[in-house]
Amino acid sequence: MPNTGRGTDALRLTPYQEQTHAALLIRWLRTPHVVRWWGDCDINRFKDCTIRIIEADGHPIGLVCWHTLTRKELDTAGLTQVPEGGADLDILIGEEHWLGRGAGPAALALGCALCEAAGAPFCTVCTSLDNLRAMRAYAKAGFLQGPVFDEHGYGPHVMMIRQRRTS
Ligand SMILES: CC(C)(COP(=O)(O)OP(=O)(O)OC[C@H]1O[C@@H](n2cnc3c(N)ncnc32)[C@H](O)[C@@H]1OP(=O)(O)O)[C@@H](O)C(=O)NCCC(=O)NCCS
Repeated sequence: MPNTGRGTDALRLTPYQEQTHAALLIRWLRTPHVVRWWGDCDINRFKDCTIRIIEADGHPIGLVCWHTLTRKELDTAGLTQVPEGGADLDILIGEEHWLGRGAGPAALALGCALCEAAGAPFCTVCTSLDNLRAMRAYAKAGFLQGPVFDEHGYGPHVMMIRQRRTS
């Protein structure tokens, strides 16, 4: 499994296991720095996603997940110009002391590599235009600014896009 990291010996993605990780994920979803951007969301939100736990130095610190973009959801968001079939990733660093240490961009790069290996032609991430920290982290992971759209009830969001790097 590929490893990467900054300020840490190793950062890796491991499979989500409900027994081991569900309680942790519920705690992360209740922390103020996550609630601020993820709102009031529960574990069911992930039922149609591939989930990977971000581990730093062998400890779970957050989650990256993804699903394949469909024509229907893109059109519903007004993103008619974006082709379907890309992998849309979401991320949270749940352990607050790991924020701002490069774990987010590193985990996204690993997630994109997995999506590309599974055939995704491109990867996307979406965030509120107010979430400057996320936008900076996404740019560091190689995502370029794409279209702005209205995330129903959550204000203006930006989609950022990273084209496939492997053939
Ligand atoms: C968004 C998130 C995944 C980023 O991961 P991270 O590991 O904290 O990212 P980084 O270590 O790269 O740090 C963030 C970068 O943004 C910068 N930054 C922080 N606050 C900023 C602000 N208000 N304006 C501009 N840049 C800011 C930091 O300086 C850093 O950039 P630098 O390395 O060039 O100095 C993580 O912070 C997180 O999970 N936040 C809570 C949940 C969330 O917002 N998820 C995304 C919602 S879609």
